[in-house]
Amino acid sequence: MLRRTVLKGLGAASLCRLAGQAPSSTVAAPLEIPYGAAVQDGPLRGNAAYRDALTSHCQLLVGEGGLKWADVRPAPDLFVFDQPDRLLAFAAEHGMRMRGHTLAWYAAMPDWALAIRGADEAERELTHHIETVVARYRGRIPSWDVVNEPIAENPGLLSYPLRESVWQEALGSRYVELALQTAARVDPAAQLVVNEYDVEMHDPAHRRKRGALLDLVKALKDNDAPLHAIGLQGHLRGGMEVDRDGLSAFVSELAQMGVGVLVTEMDVIDKELPAPDEERDQAVAALARDFLSAICDGARPTAILTWGITDSYTWVPIWFSRDDGRPNRPLPLDVNYRRKALMDVIDSFRV
Ligand code: G3I
Repeated sequence: MLRRTVLKGLGAASLCRLAGQAPSSTVAAPLEIPYGAAVQDGPLRGNAAYRDALTSHCQLLVGEGGLKWADVRPAPDLFVFDQPDRLLAFAAEHGMRMRGHTLAWYAAMPDWALAIRGADEAERELTHHIETVVARYRGRIPSWDVVNEPIAENPGLLSYPLRESVWQEALGSRYVELALQTAARVDPAAQLVVNEYDVEMHDPAHRRKRGALLDLVKALKDNDAPLHAIGLQGHLRGGMEVDRDGLSAFVSELAQMGVGVLVTEMDVIDKELPAPDEERDQAVAALARDFLSAICDGARPTAILTWGITDSYTWVPIWFSRDDGRPNRPLPLDVNYRRKALMDVIDSFRV
């Protein structure tokens, strides 16, 4: 249930492609595209202001961890569902839905799983894992990042070179289809997503990765694989430009193949952006506006999620802390839970 509204002028403003423009009158309209955020388990348990921020702004939640292999399956025969169960209960209590992240990834793997070798063992473990996890949440988690970050960092000239992982090594590109088919078999109603990053900027590496992802989607669709949407993570790089035409064309091509799009992990890496808070917040918001408007020019996203909600809890400083020592400001709320320009931009695209 969407509880928040924005001001909308033109009737046609309900088209996502007109979003980002200023409203011309004061007619309230519901925000139709759900907004959500990634949640850390620690503050979810111990910080009331954080919980309030989630319940007042979000319709969707996703665990920043908790469903990754290292968290949910620390040993071959041990599944630990505490974190996702807690998040799901919180979401349900407050009328929100939860997304699942993630079923097949190269990273956050426990040591025992990194030792998986050979096609038989890999297929057995991957299938058992997806069957167990998706079955537990069947009908309760409506959307899954089934495969996370499958494309190699620098795909070069091959058609869809996949990133090295236990799965790719043992099964080749077949693992992507296997993961999708297994998830679809267990929960035929779930939205199944391949989730990827670094495909949106004006940069040769991003362009190559986008092309490789499109080739992967074509191959999957040719085989009738149950792929419903591409998750554009959207870890946007401050200081770079969004490839608006390239991104719109990519999203249009997906739509023509019957594949939707959603924004799964948006934030702005502000390491290279100006120091003053207000100037930085405007630059962050402008980059997000370019990104969302390019997507909307191609097709309407089914959801917009940021990777965290407040600058207090973000992965960004782990890899991209600023040289001037100032805290990063990548997210829609500041450390005091005040809205920043980024939240206004997101809302303007949700009509
Ligand atoms: O669980 C341990 C905890 O026991 C220990 O006390 C603590 C000490 O540092 O580390 C904890 O594990 C950390 C975990 O986050 C939970 O906080 C890991 O070291 C750390 O590597 C892990 O980082 C996460 C990363 O994915 C790897 O799983 C980030 O929080 C999370 O934001 C990041 O999320 C990824 C998405 O899944 C995929 N797309 C990119 C995105 C950002 O990198």
